[in-house]
Amino acid sequence: MGDSEINELKAKIVILEERNVRLMEDLQNAEREKRYSEGELFRVQKDLGRVRSELDKLKSPPLAIGSLHDVLSDNRVVVRGSGNGGSDYIVAVSDYIPKEDLVIGSRVSLSRQSMAVMEILPSPIDPLVSGAEVVEKPTVTYKDVGGLGKQLRELREAVEDPLIRPELYAKVGIDPPRGVLLAGPPGTGKTLMAKAVANATKATFIRLVGSELVQKYIGEGARLVRELFCLAKEKSPCIVFLDELDSIGARRLDGSSSGDREVQRTLMQLLAEMDGFATVNNVRIIGATNRPDILDEALMRPGRFDRIIQVDLPDAAGRAQIFKIHLSRMSVEKGVSPQKLAEKTEGSSGADIKNMCMEAGMFAIRDGRDVVSPADFDLALGKVSAGRIGKTQPAPVHMFG
Ligand SMILES: Nc1ncnc2c1ncn2[C@@H]1O[C@H](COP(=O)(O)OP(=O)(O)OP(=O)(O)O)[C@@H](O)[C@H]1O
Ligand SMILES: [Mg+2]
Repeated sequence: MGDSEINELKAKIVILEERNVRLMEDLQNAEREKRYSEGELFRVQKDLGRVRSELDKLKSPPLAIGSLHDVLSDNRVVVRGSGNGGSDYIVAVSDYIPKEDLVIGSRVSLSRQSMAVMEILPSPIDPLVSGAEVVEKPTVTYKDVGGLGKQLRELREAVEDPLIRPELYAKVGIDPPRGVLLAGPPGTGKTLMAKAVANATKATFIRLVGSELVQKYIGEGARLVRELFCLAKEKSPCIVFLDELDSIGARRLDGSSSGDREVQRTLMQLLAEMDGFATVNNVRIIGATNRPDILDEALMRPGRFDRIIQVDLPDAAGRAQIFKIHLSRMSVEKGVSPQKLAEKTEGSSGADIKNMCMEAGMFAIRDGRDVVSPADFDLALGKVSAGRIGKTQPAPVHMFG
């Protein structure tokens, strides 16, 4: 073999080796692609599964809603459809429902064809009611309430003591007042006080606003009241705060519109629930109203709102305290004195005072300053009191058409 031949063979070997390297690379690439495609396939299959089940869901026939009335021994149950007429049926139960979940009174979904029970629905507490529960405690404390010393003491005696120190009442042998009614003009701190007591006790705070109850849920007020008290029992110890009570608690009139009758049904339910609470000791009820004069007398009977706390517009000392509370959160010049401001704001409520402080702050900001001056307060005083004169008196009770 000549040199030239050897060189030729060597060159061929180099070429083959290079090709080998390239092929190896190609193979690796191909393998990588295969893995990628497999992953992709898996993902697409999963998507497909989801879409299929979604489609099934969309195609599935609607379910009827009913309530469980009885459980028979042969694994069948008596249900009542919620539709018109609401006849009773004896039906089968889906195997997927554990027997112990079949509680009489629960809401169930029913197959349209066989009326068989398909599932047990969650307890029918309305989102408005469950949403009314304040899970986090209000952050308001007694220190944030100005000038209502006497009222606050009464409220604490009636609400805080029975919850925190029930033995006080037990020793003397009397029942604590069942319900406390805070009555007074708008913006005087009623809601504020209720929040402060809730904060001071460990109790759950449930707040429901009367006007919302009547306006949003025509025809359902009574049911909501029932559910609210159900929730209260479940969550006890707790404080139920019924704000704007006048919108449901207005005196019953006769010959009124259907809307009024609805409000009255709600009121009747409220009265019934409060009576039913006679035996439940760790639920306290606070009501608030601007118009105690138009409330139904039945609400004030013993065992219901039997303690009325009058929350009036603050006097000069009270106003000074309220100013102090709100000023403490602001940066103000030395010349701003709560006492002087209180003297100039005869007839203002706590909410007005809060408003004035905010307006004064706005004047400072508009002026490019970050400290509020006495002059800002003078401007704010003018603005807010002008607004107050233009304002109409407290809105009367909510009435339907
Ligand atoms: N006594 C007070 N001390 C401190 N701040 C007060 C006082 N009263 C009212 N305020 C301020 O005014 C705001 C509104 O008061 P609040 O909501 O308690 O009034 P209200 O009596 O419930 O009025 P309404 O009858 O209109 O519901 C409060 O958030 C608070 O900032
Ligand atoms: Mg209020």
